[in-house]
Amino acid sequence: MTASAATKKKVESLRSRIRNHNYQYHVLDEPEVPDAEYDRLVRELQDLEKEHPELITADSPTQRVGAEPIKAFGTIRHIIPMLSLENAFSEDELNDFHRRVTERLEIEIDAGLKYAAEPKLDGVAVSLLYEKGQLVRGATRGDGTTGEDITHNVRTIDAVPLKLLDKGYPSTLEVRGEVFMPREGFIAYNQQALQKGEKTFVNPRNAAAGSLRQLDPRLTAERPLDIYVYSVGLTIGGALPDCHSEILDRLQEWGLKICPDRKVVSGIKGCLEFYADIGRRRDSLRYDIDGVVYKVNRLDYQKELGFVSRAPRWATAHKFPAQEEITIVRDIEFQVGRTGALTPVARLEPVFVGGVTVSNATLHNMDELQRKDVRIGDTVVVRRAGDVIPEVVKIIPERRPKGLRIVKVPAKCPVCHSAVVREKGEAAARCTGGLICAAQRAEALKHFVSRRALDVNGLGSKLIEQLVAIDRIKTPADLYRLDRDELAGMDRMGEKSAENLLAAIEQSKDTTLARFLYGLGIREVGEATASSIAAHYGKLTRIMEADEQGLQTVSDVGPVVASRIHSFFAEKHNQEVIKSLIDSGLTWKETKPSPNTADGPLSGKTFVLTGMLSSMTRDEAKEKIQAAGGKVTGTVSKKTDYVVYGDKAGSKLTKAQNLGIETIDDASFQKILSDQ
Ligand code: IVH
Repeated sequence: MTASAATKKKVESLRSRIRNHNYQYHVLDEPEVPDAEYDRLVRELQDLEKEHPELITADSPTQRVGAEPIKAFGTIRHIIPMLSLENAFSEDELNDFHRRVTERLEIEIDAGLKYAAEPKLDGVAVSLLYEKGQLVRGATRGDGTTGEDITHNVRTIDAVPLKLLDKGYPSTLEVRGEVFMPREGFIAYNQQALQKGEKTFVNPRNAAAGSLRQLDPRLTAERPLDIYVYSVGLTIGGALPDCHSEILDRLQEWGLKICPDRKVVSGIKGCLEFYADIGRRRDSLRYDIDGVVYKVNRLDYQKELGFVSRAPRWATAHKFPAQEEITIVRDIEFQVGRTGALTPVARLEPVFVGGVTVSNATLHNMDELQRKDVRIGDTVVVRRAGDVIPEVVKIIPERRPKGLRIVKVPAKCPVCHSAVVREKGEAAARCTGGLICAAQRAEALKHFVSRRALDVNGLGSKLIEQLVAIDRIKTPADLYRLDRDELAGMDRMGEKSAENLLAAIEQSKDTTLARFLYGLGIREVGEATASSIAAHYGKLTRIMEADEQGLQTVSDVGPVVASRIHSFFAEKHNQEVIKSLIDSGLTWKETKPSPNTADGPLSGKTFVLTGMLSSMTRDEAKEKIQAAGGKVTGTVSKKTDYVVYGDKAGSKLTKAQNLGIETIDDASFQKILSDQ
């Protein structure tokens, strides 16, 4: 049956509505309708297209996925070459760039030349070609002149419009941008891959590149890819604004997705402020970057400046220190943690990465070590991002010398020589020495005095290790029996520091039940669990007397955790340490048991805290939420119920607003708490 004019009209109107919703959702991050309504429109269009296949067009929003796998990528030529950028690795190099630009333009160096500043996205450069508003080709950069035809794959990326929105675009419009995998999607993808026993990606950039290079577009479609467009290539028929930032604004109006974290800045000062600001926010951005890009904003200036070899004179990339470097594994040692878990640590040929010199990197656990198959003598990629502990990402197999031996778990603890066991289903191998093991004792003590536990200021790792080594401290209770003279006699201590430390130890006695419980270092009992248990029972003796079944009535406590807690308190030695701690004067306010925080006023609610609250620290806010049965997490997602924000709130607040999550300011938050 051929379609009637009315059906054709209906199909077009559905397509146009769906395109608009796609734009609202993917480009503007402001969905207009609930998912269900959107799905209904798509379904309706699909049904009509099924009935009238002759109406299907390549730019229909239903046609993203479905193309058949191809045998090989075709090649395409970029009529206007895709250039690269010159790099500035330091402030001096940036100054040189700015000086060259202003000299060539014959303007004063401090005349406040405007630059369009943008994050330098760490993904894969692509070119998208629109003819009469329809996406006709997607290509990789390749060598800048010849790239690969990846049309089928870019079509599967939801944020790539198959048809531009109708607002006066040039009849031929080629745009360039970066396809990337957002961090959240990368983590989720890898978790799934691990569960399915499939290969994981080492970083979001490799994930994006690997996903785009699939011959089967259905595989690409399953990957959470995204795009930010950052420039224009070929245009025919149609005028564009005369500065870069406004071109990007225009592209956004046509439906293309532009990075929201861009800014027009003035002169070197503006560039450096932007660099510092993005650097501070780097870890909380939703995408990976490796620096920022400054582009002379005026197009007439760009034209005047021109190009040298393959890079424009009017732009430069100001790079952050590399987060990944290559080095050699000199040794692999095992560190013993608080619970006896052995962590393999690679001792490295020192290497400058992420802004510091790194000579040790974690290999996490035996599973990871085996999966990555790291051996002594291997050349490896080391990563240090933000304040995260440096880690070995992967080995470089081509650089492996012959005859390297597989690293095995030691049979005996490297510290106390007790047997090492690896329980079934556990990634960690453990020392069975318990409190005989000096390493476990020292780590347990470090945990006990840490900021979120008893918070003893000034008792550093080195001092703890010394005190444990000479057997002066065997349990946390011994901490409260140290005297001034013996402390003053320790390495790198004097009378003044001994006195300060004693004062801090004294101060730590006044604590909370939740902190105390967390500080005991019971396996599987993290801060949140400790808070829930403390709030539930209100009193230590009740917790110590609780049986496993009773413990499981606390929210978040399952059979494993309940059994860990129960056996911890059943242990005579632990009872003695607790008694001794209380005898030394540790106190906290006991509260009435709140029969179940699962029934607490905030139970089932997930909070994210961002910025500085004026009324309390974030830790205090967290404790209060948990005491009322709520949960506090670090990242905003669809599962978040409320985002509490204070001064200098970061990207979490923006994200919450974009996702339509309720945001609460300091005052309203206090009101919620006092209403409980
Ligand atoms: S503009 C002529 N802007 O960096 C200017 N590039 O080293 C060409 N990149 O291949 C690029 N973020 O893949 C530009 N905001 C940004 C960018 C960016 C990342 C990449 C791009 C390019 C490479 C150049």
